[in-house]
Amino acid sequence: MADWEKTAVYITTFFAIAGSYFGFLTAFGQEGEEINARNLFEYHCATCHGADGKGTKRGHELKAPNFAAPDWQSKKKDEEILNSITNGKDKMPRWSDKLKPEEIEALAKYVRKLVSKKRS
Ligand code: HEC
Repeated sequence: MADWEKTAVYITTFFAIAGSYFGFLTAFGQEGEEINARNLFEYHCATCHGADGKGTKRGHELKAPNFAAPDWQSKKKDEEILNSITNGKDKMPRWSDKLKPEEIEALAKYVRKLVSKKRS
């Protein structure tokens, strides 16, 4: 093999490996972004809980909690939140038939973010 041929082989190999590596990273990155917790929450949950988590009129009638209240947040365990979204609780419907486990997990994390920054 002439030197220039070897160089060509190295370059081709390099780009083949680098290409599949970046392809993997891109695919992986998109996978993570597929679930948009905020959109899911506004679509499925805001009817009762409100986009800000404080609860709509309908939500209050059904006794939905205020996710923005630091007290509520500190009393709730992650497992309880996950379990209530999955299996439902009293007037709250179960979501396991409508949402994927990854989506429910993303929503449980999103509920944590709705806590009000200001302490009143
Ligand atoms: C039909 C109205 C309604 C919708 C829609 C709804 N919820 Fe609820 N949710 C409630 C009510 C009512 C409660 C209070 C249940 C209780 O403690 O008695 C509640 C409670 C909760 C709780 C607290 C559970 C606990 O353990 O105390 C979480 C977390 C929650 N909802 C998340 C969600 C998410 C996420 C969605 C969207 C996928 C959603 N909810 C959609 C009515 C609703």
